[in-house]
Amino acid sequence: KETVVSGIRPTGKLHLGNYFGAVTNFVKMQYDYNCYFFIADLHSLTTHPTPQDLHGYVKHVLVEYLACGIDPEETTIYIQSDVPEVAELYLYLNMNAYMGELERSTSFKDKIRSQPDNVNAGLLTYPSLMAADILIHKATKVPVGKDQEQHLEMTRTFGNRFNRLYNSDYFPEPFAFNYAQNLVKVPGLEGKGKMSKSDGDGNCIYLSDSPEIIRKKVSRAVTDSGPTAENQAKPEAIQNLFDLMSIVSSADTISHFDEQYNKVAIRYGDLKKQLAEDMIVFNTPIREKIEELSKDDNYLRQVAKHGALKARESAQRTIKEVRSLIGFKPF
Ligand code: TYM
Repeated sequence: KETVVSGIRPTGKLHLGNYFGAVTNFVKMQYDYNCYFFIADLHSLTTHPTPQDLHGYVKHVLVEYLACGIDPEETTIYIQSDVPEVAELYLYLNMNAYMGELERSTSFKDKIRSQPDNVNAGLLTYPSLMAADILIHKATKVPVGKDQEQHLEMTRTFGNRFNRLYNSDYFPEPFAFNYAQNLVKVPGLEGKGKMSKSDGDGNCIYLSDSPEIIRKKVSRAVTDSGPTAENQAKPEAIQNLFDLMSIVSSADTISHFDEQYNKVAIRYGDLKKQLAEDMIVFNTPIREKIEELSKDDNYLRQVAKHGALKARESAQRTIKEVRSLIGFKPF
């Protein structure tokens, strides 16, 4: 079986972008691959969360993984900081990650803009930590959204460079993966860009949002004054609503509103109402499961402990071999 790794930062509750970009693939892949799904709490330190927030969000993501249907018997679910071997591999990979390439990473440039007062070394070396996550289990497939594509490219660079340096073919090449062939980018509700927690709660529909909140958020989604002629191309804000419909609504619903748009007869209020109801149908079973699992700390503790053991077993195997390749050998 091929090995699969992916993770999510515990910086907030999971939204539809996380679900359709990543988690839905985790759930499908778990029966066909040797899967490791983790909570990237080390990565989230780059934004200096308070200990309380960090702890709360780690629990949130764990609960949400399980509520979405990731089965801890089929996969290895773990918390990144429970596997210190990841941090060790990160150190080794940093020795041949170059300043220039790290500075050119899109996510680093975005962060310089969004947190100019906290441009720390962890942000710069974020891609080497992510490479360590993936290479520690020698994974070949990484289910992620489109925004992570560049990080996967850097992971291949770092892995290949390590191989060349030590004259080996130790690390296989990992590739971003999505069942839908193309990597997914779920848009937000504010008319432009991807769904992202950093753009505020109004832009995101969370898996745990109640029906009232979903109705309210969708009703406030950005639209325009409507098409002025038949068969007009859709501007970004409107296309985004159709893209959101394409993930939660039926084909009939989509073609109905598409036709209305093309005939200049569309009422955005109707479209938004339908979109909100379809989102509610989609998220209700997950939301209920989240509420139920949140109360079961005993079970969560057991899942995390079991996952950490399995993940460390695999990570220790790799680190032992890496140490020997590097030349750390007993006399
Ligand atoms: P993070 O925590 O920002 O996002 C988690 C996952 O959700 C996907 N995603 C989206 N997909 C489609 N549309 C969107 N609007 C959207 N928003 C988020 C992301 O692509 C990602 O798959 N660096 C990673 C975490 C990470 C990781 C790893 C992933 C750390 N180590 C190793 C894979 C393998 C991150 O920040 O994702």
